[in-house]
Amino acid sequence: MLKVINLTINGTLRQVSADERESLLDTLRGLGFTSVKKGCEVGECGACTVLVDGEAVDSCIYLAVWAEGKSVMTVEGLKGPNGELSPIQQAFIEEAAVQCGFCTPGLIMSAVEIVGTGRKYNREELKKLISGHLCRCTGYENILNAMERIVEETYKVAGTGE
Ligand code: FES
Ligand code: FES
Repeated sequence: MLKVINLTINGTLRQVSADERESLLDTLRGLGFTSVKKGCEVGECGACTVLVDGEAVDSCIYLAVWAEGKSVMTVEGLKGPNGELSPIQQAFIEEAAVQCGFCTPGLIMSAVEIVGTGRKYNREELKKLISGHLCRCTGYENILNAMERIVEETYKVAGTGE
């Protein structure tokens, strides 16, 4: 049965219709937010990660109807007013943390959640925090370098660094 859902996507209030069994992943991709990748569809690869009210969720196992009244953010919501990349995306490029790029949007959204906490996680903690993401290309070291860098930079900018 179709349901009308009111939600905010990347800062814009939207009213969308979706089947009550439809995943948020399918709804977002149907609306053109194709940064949200369809991988395993069972909550195991992290490719479909988006933020819902600031919390990273696997949108393949999150029903669209659950997003009623909530705020959803995808990678499309990170770009600046002139289309510039966010510092997190820039860090991924500079640390060569992207190869085919399929896992990248999900990892970027987890990075947004991680830096949003304002905590200076160490490498071991970051490893655990991204353990829900599968990357078949980069071997994770460069991804962790990018994560570590952005966490440190954000921590310094926030004025809480040593
Ligand atoms: S597509 Fe959602 S976790 Fe893999
Ligand atoms: S860059 Fe290809 S899956 Fe991660």
